[in-house]
Amino acid sequence: MNIVILPDTSQIADLAATFYTDLLEKNPKAVLGLATGSSPVPTYKKLIELYERGEISFKDAKAFLLDEYVGLPADHPQTYITFIKKEFTDHVDFAEGAVQGPPGSADDPFKAAAEYEKELEKAGGIDLQMLGIGSDGHIAFNEPGGALSSVTHLQVLAEQTREDNARFFDDDLDRVPKFSLTQGLSTIMRAKKIILIAQGEGKAEAVAALVEGGVSARWQASILQYHNDVTVLLDEEAASKLQLADFYTYAWESEQELRGASN
Ligand code: GLP
Repeated sequence: MNIVILPDTSQIADLAATFYTDLLEKNPKAVLGLATGSSPVPTYKKLIELYERGEISFKDAKAFLLDEYVGLPADHPQTYITFIKKEFTDHVDFAEGAVQGPPGSADDPFKAAAEYEKELEKAGGIDLQMLGIGSDGHIAFNEPGGALSSVTHLQVLAEQTREDNARFFDDDLDRVPKFSLTQGLSTIMRAKKIILIAQGEGKAEAVAALVEGGVSARWQASILQYHNDVTVLLDEEAASKLQLADFYTYAWESEQELRGASN
């Protein structure tokens, strides 16, 4: 796992954006895994800027969302598909139909979950997956206690997650959906490359569990310790409970120097 600790959001976004420019330069038809939540938004803004300057194009790429609320009407402003269109994909040149998410308003969400998993397989899997992390350690909507080998499934949301997300629903907990459709941990682990962004004190405990804790169903993100190409981008607050923060920074900077010297 690469752990990169940076002083501010814009540096995190700049670095995260290079993962997209590098990938799409090599493979314009790449399959991108997109996350919602506030953490990736500055990166999406940066990608829009690069697109407007003609430095990146998504015209042959595809994108799949990680998760979606169940029970919101399809045109509700807080569905994740509406959010991602508004914050990112409608502002760049994805082809019609190239961006999809789990259909949270499907009549049979269990069947819809199985179909979404198949769609991902049909597309050849995710080349680059963006992740955030919940304060209870969830990635996508995989809540504590779930199987470490889960695939796309219907997920009951934890109280903590609903409270954290109430800010998107006028701080009214009753309006936050109770269920979601989410890619599972095994689905996420099949992505070829993963970047995870976390900012703020509220994520520090989950980040410590992700990077330095034991792999456990309690802290679902800890499964990423078994993936061989994960880069975790943190601000200093999110990194504040890491015991070996100095070493991670030293290791990252040393490796960058070596790569710079050999280019
Ligand atoms: C939601 C999403 C996750 C996201 C998490 C953190 O629960 N399902 O994919 O990572 O929130 O969100 P934020 O980045 O807003 O803190």
